[in-house]
Order: sequence, then structure tokens, then C-alpha cells
Amino acid sequence: MIPSHTMPYPDAAPAAFLDRDGTLIEDRGHLRSPSDVVFYPDTFNALRRLQNEFRLFIVTNQSGIGKGLITSTEADQVNQYVVDQLHQAGVRIEQVYCCPHHRDEGCACIKPKPFFMEQAARDFTLDLSASFAVGDHPHDVQFATNAGAEGVYVLTGHGHQHRAEAPEGAKIVSGIREAADWILGRHFMRKLEREKPGQIANAAQILRNGGVVAFPTETVYGLGANALDAEAVAQIFEIKQRPHFDPLIVHIHTPEQLNELVCEIPASAQLVMDHFWPGPLTLVLPKNPDVPDLVTSGLPSVAVRMPAHPLALELLRQAGTPIAAPSANRFGCTSPTTAQHVFNQLGTAPGMILDGGPCAVGVESTIISFTEAQPVLLRAGGIAIEEIEHLLGPLRRNTLDDSQPTAPGQLSQHYSPRTPLLFKEQAPELSTLKIGLLSFREPGCRKSYCAVEVLSASGNLREAAANLFASMHRLDALHLDLILTERVPGTGLGLAINDRLSRAAHPQHPTSHR
Ligand code: TXA
Ligand code: MG
Repeated sequence: MIPSHTMPYPDAAPAAFLDRDGTLIEDRGHLRSPSDVVFYPDTFNALRRLQNEFRLFIVTNQSGIGKGLITSTEADQVNQYVVDQLHQAGVRIEQVYCCPHHRDEGCACIKPKPFFMEQAARDFTLDLSASFAVGDHPHDVQFATNAGAEGVYVLTGHGHQHRAEAPEGAKIVSGIREAADWILGRHFMRKLEREKPGQIANAAQILRNGGVVAFPTETVYGLGANALDAEAVAQIFEIKQRPHFDPLIVHIHTPEQLNELVCEIPASAQLVMDHFWPGPLTLVLPKNPDVPDLVTSGLPSVAVRMPAHPLALELLRQAGTPIAAPSANRFGCTSPTTAQHVFNQLGTAPGMILDGGPCAVGVESTIISFTEAQPVLLRAGGIAIEEIEHLLGPLRRNTLDDSQPTAPGQLSQHYSPRTPLLFKEQAPELSTLKIGLLSFREPGCRKSYCAVEVLSASGNLREAAANLFASMHRLDALHLDLILTERVPGTGLGLAINDRLSRAAHPQHPTSHR
């Protein structure tokens, strides 16, 4: 029990303290004018998501002022411009804290000193123990630690250059988007531990005892069982009501766990693992004989991934065993991206459903097979194929063959809502039907639809992917006759979105008033 005098105020809010240069905007030296500001493309969306749970602050060391390289008026103008641009994108910054001093001046406010975070805590009634700081310099992480918060180190800006100096154990991510994903995951995990203490430990115990647990990952919620226990894995198929056994993805939390599962790691597989794990990438590799045939459907290979959700990693760590997990939905239905979606489909069938908040990526992992000389793309997913080809060169694309699917996501019909879903161009004469629209951007006209779900008003494919299944679930709950949709641009995550939409589309015609 924590003594009450050390408890934060009951209304104390968690906050995210964001470094400016190299974190939100490009680090281009001492910025003198708003025209020098270049935002990272991910900044707006990442901050929009963060502000759902956190109050946002910018904390920036501008030693260029103390060195006489820029004036404080110039620094203020740049800060104001950054705040205004964010405001226009729907992001509210509570305050910008700027240290104008040269490090040699020995001021009280320069990061990593916790001065500004402590001041904000007093002025805005914040709970620093539930707060985070993000930055591209070891000072930014130290700043968090010094104030009792948690730091996240980004590899943008000076991040790469100073990587070796990042404090031991600091969470290192590629940039602001991954920082937001990680922070939100940690936040929901702590919330769960606060509201239902011991839940993660109980879930780990259930898994060790051969039970089944639904848990969050950054892509979709998974329905997991001990991957090395065939009886435990059999329950997954029962709960999902899969008509046949499909091979499952095995989840791990350290690279060492791979040795329990696979017997060979080609250099190209190692390269992508080092680059994208933890993250939404699954590798199919030659399997170790210890992996039960039920997990791999008798194939000589096994699919493995290290998820990027903090709660999934913690569960894996506490369970101490690799976890086989397909998406936690009934066979053929829309994948769950919240704990509520899982409950709506599976009820109390899993031993437990762990709530880790909404999934950040929202579409399943990209699957690549390394069982042949040239890597093969088996499923488009949460990591854009362009990013992988950038590392590996061209991938072979698996052609769709329903008679012999290597991935159930490759069945031509999958992910379907109960309501018939069609592409706009396939739509029949519609006048009497109750129709919902699943639209990429804001549609030109809303009035012919009973309901409209917009995947991303700004046309951001990553945002669209994160919203895809939740939007389908919402439309599906409205008892419409028909959902119409449209394809999104086929680049980046658009490939995975179009793939899921095509497979969710029902071939049969809708009838009025089902
Ligand atoms: O994001 C994801 O990957 C989510 C979360 C929970 O991690 N999991 C997921 O699992 O989507 P599931 O079961 O819905 O899809 C697993 C896919 C299947 O399409 C399966 O056929 C393929 O992985 N797969 C598994 N083992 C394979 C193997 N040895 N060879 C080829 N494909 C394999
Ligand atoms: Mg910086």
C-alpha cells in the first residue's frame, strides 16, 4: 500500500514532455525563423493520439540564445509557429518551456535538470510518475528520470549520433510515431495494473497452466496459448471456431527465444529482424522439431514475431514461454482492435481478456517467408512493403490461391463484417436500402448514407489503417443493409488496407431489412 501523502492528487493528469528539435521538427541548427521549421510527417498524427490520454508540453534547450547566435524573440517566434501549426492540425500544446542559457552558465532550468517538469506539475496539477518525456538526446531521457517520469529516446535528429550514450535501459524508438505507440501502450498497461492489480501475472499463470488468454498487440488483439503445448493450442481453434487448422504466429519477447523455435536464421531474416523487431513483422523460418505440428499445421516452417506492445512483451516475459496467437476473433470475422471487440465476439471463452487500449497499427503484421532462396511476401500488413524491399531488395509476391492458402488471411473472403460490404462500383440499385459508407477521406456528399465512417480526414494511410477495423465494427453494429467502401491509394500501408477491404467484401447481394 502506498502511503497516502505520496499519492498524486486524485485529479493529477499524466503529461508528455516533448523535445522540439530533432523530435517534432527537423534539427537544422539554431532556428531563427518560422520558415526554418520542417515538421516530421508523423508528428501531427502522433500528437493527436497522445493528447487523448496526456496533456502535452514542449521543453526545449535553446542555448543558441545564451551563445548570442539567435535572439530570444527569434526563438519565441519559432516556438509560436510550431504551436500554431500543431493547433491547426488539432493538437493542443499547454505550454512551451524554453531554456535560453548556455550550458556553462549553470542555470537551474536546462535539461536534464527536472526544473520545467516540476514547474509544469505544480502549474497544471500533473502526475509525473505517470508522465513521459521524448527526445533525441540522452539529456531528454535523463530529464524524465530526474523528475520521476519515463524517457523515450528517438533516433531522429541527433538520436543516431548519440545512441551509444543513451541511458542504460532507455526505450529506443525510430521516431515520434513509435514513441507515441510505446507511451500509449505503457500508459494503458499501467492503468490496468492500477485498476486490476495482478491481472498480467494472472494471465501469465493461465498461459503456463495451459489456458488461453486474449491480449493486445500493436496490430490487433491476439488469442494466445503456450506455443509448446499442443493441447493448449487446440483450444484456440475451438474458441475461434475455425473449421480447419491453420498455422499460427508464435510471439516472443527476446531474440534468444527464437532458438527454441527455429533451426536456421538466414542472414536476410536477421537483417529485417534487427531492423523491425519489436514490430508488426512476422518471419516464416525453418522450424525446430519441438514446435508442435498443430502450431504449424504440419509445415516444416514456423511463423514468429516479436510484438511492439509493452503489455504483450510483459505478458510474454512473465509467462516465460513463446505464445501462439492468431487474431482474437471468430473465424472469418473482422479482427479486434480493442478489448471490447474481443469480448463482443468471444465473450468469456478466453480465460482472460487483457485490456491494453486501442491497437496503434490496426492491421495485422506483414508476413515474409524465408524458407526459399528469395524471401516471399505472404501477407501485406503493418510494415510497408517498400520499407522491407528497401533493405532486402525485391520480394517475391505470393499469388492468391484459395485451394492452398499458406495464410488464412489469404482466403479470398476473410475479415468480413456481418453486414454485406461492397465496393462502391459494385453497388446495385440502392434506393430502398439502409447504407453505411466506409470512406477513406471525407466524402463529397453524406446525405445518401445512414452512417459514414471516415478512415483519415487528412488522407494519412497509417491513421486509416489504425481506424479500419474499429470503423468496420461500428458500422456493423448499426444493422444496416449494406456497407459501401472504396479502395485507398495502394502505397505504404494502403496495400494492407486494400487487401483487407477486398477480402471483407461479400460477394452476395444485400436484401432490404434483414
Ligand atoms: O498481427 C498479427 O500477425 C496478429 C497478432 C495477434 O500478432 N496475428 C495474426 O494471426 O494475424 P493469424 O493467425 O490471424 O494469422 C497468422 C498467419 C496466417 O495467415 C498463417 O497462415 C500464417 O500466419 N502462417 C503461420 N505459420 C505459417 C507458416 N509456417 N507458413 C506460412 N504461413 C504461415
Ligand atoms: Mg532535440
